[in-house]
Amino acid sequence: MILKEAKKLYIETLGCAMNVRDSEHIIAELGDKENYVLCDNVLDADLILINTCSVREKPVSKLFSEIGKYNKRKKEGAKIGVCGCTASHLGDEIFKRAPYVSFVIGARNVSKIAEAVNTPRFLSVDTDYDESTYAFGEFRNSLYKAYVNISIGCDKKCTYCIVPQTRGDELSIPPELIINEAKKAAQSGAKEIFLLGQNVNNYGKRFSQKRTDMIDFPDLLNQISEIKGVERIRFTSPHPLHMDDKFLETFANNPKICKSMHMPLQSGSTHILEQMKRGYTKEWFLNRALKLRAMVPDVSISTDVIVAFPGESDADFEDTLDVMRQVKFEQVFAFKYSARPLTKAAEFENQIDPEIGSQRLEKLQLMQDDILDEISCAHQDKIYPVYIEELRNSGFLAGRSDNNALVQIKGDESLLGQVVNVKITNPKRLALYGEVVL
Ligand code: SAH
Ligand code: SF4
Ligand code: F3S
Repeated sequence: MILKEAKKLYIETLGCAMNVRDSEHIIAELGDKENYVLCDNVLDADLILINTCSVREKPVSKLFSEIGKYNKRKKEGAKIGVCGCTASHLGDEIFKRAPYVSFVIGARNVSKIAEAVNTPRFLSVDTDYDESTYAFGEFRNSLYKAYVNISIGCDKKCTYCIVPQTRGDELSIPPELIINEAKKAAQSGAKEIFLLGQNVNNYGKRFSQKRTDMIDFPDLLNQISEIKGVERIRFTSPHPLHMDDKFLETFANNPKICKSMHMPLQSGSTHILEQMKRGYTKEWFLNRALKLRAMVPDVSISTDVIVAFPGESDADFEDTLDVMRQVKFEQVFAFKYSARPLTKAAEFENQIDPEIGSQRLEKLQLMQDDILDEISCAHQDKIYPVYIEELRNSGFLAGRSDNNALVQIKGDESLLGQVVNVKITNPKRLALYGEVVL
């Protein structure tokens, strides 16, 4: 028998953890069905894939410059495919703007990847397509941590956000499939399970097939925590609106759930939150965040903030800073509002001058830097269990504490995949440096 030589796949992933997981699914499918192996040099690739993000304008413009460059450098006969959220929203237009692209696959059509590579000008961007019960092949970037999707799509209609248009309506993945995936991951060495969805704490509201049992997100967390070999559970993104007491109590009381919470604020102004259709007020957000701090003193809270949303006044922006001062987030992902096609807010008349947006972003970041200095100093001499996941080129081993601080130590490969106690000797804003203690 003559073994066919494997073809080479180069994949670039933009966007959020959902895209990272989709890329893992694509790699698994192409490996199982089409004999592709990953390569890290685009010049060697038989297939170049770019998994795109649409959430702000910047990554979309990046897509066309990036594939243009790939097209010039690719080896003869190599194909270029575009997947992900920009594929969903631009569809056929991608072929028009970049005729050398071989296929376009939307964020909800990942399971069709093997068909796509064999069909000239394959286009599949249907956001109603149901992938919630599809079992993908197995591949993950990290031996130690496994991403597991728990839902697809998003049912919220935040007025600035394109995601519901690119990923379709929200469907929960049946718990049996999730548990099964988590079990397999744990058996193959992943101590950490990272659950993914746009609204994880809305889990269980709608499945593609009617169920007789009821299950919500806290129930799912508890079930996963019982799996042998699972030591740490993380998830993203929960929605502040659905942070009810049951959810906070499960988070606080289940020792396997890592004590870091993402609480996407977006704005601290109740008026702007209304315009964004977020469904909560400044007071509700503060109530939940401060309750969480009281219940779990070691918790770290991260957030997303949008500045210069249409109509945001100086007073509205001050409300955002006020929430940041009160909550003292351990991590803030702040973005200038970017008007997106297919969204309501893009039609609002009171758009803000981008220069004002830049000034607000800068002010916010300077304030957050001071908060971070205060937070990182408080880590000095503390001892944390750290799950070592990566040996970096810098020679440092890197891992996360339970509450998600990035910790780096000197050491060798033998510590990979182990949870070790680290004493913090040099805390910096972006990483804590320390040494292993017994
Ligand atoms: N489901 C998650 C968010 C997914 S999008 C949630 O509800 O929090 C990730 C982040 O991108 C958002 O939290 C928001 O802060 C940012 N974002 C989304 N649309 C944006 C836009 N039009 N302009 C700027 N930032 C945006
Ligand atoms: Fe976008 Fe809102 Fe859905 Fe998050 S919850 S993905 S911000 S529409
Ligand atoms: Fe994620 Fe970007 Fe799509 S943030 S959901 S990859 S638009």
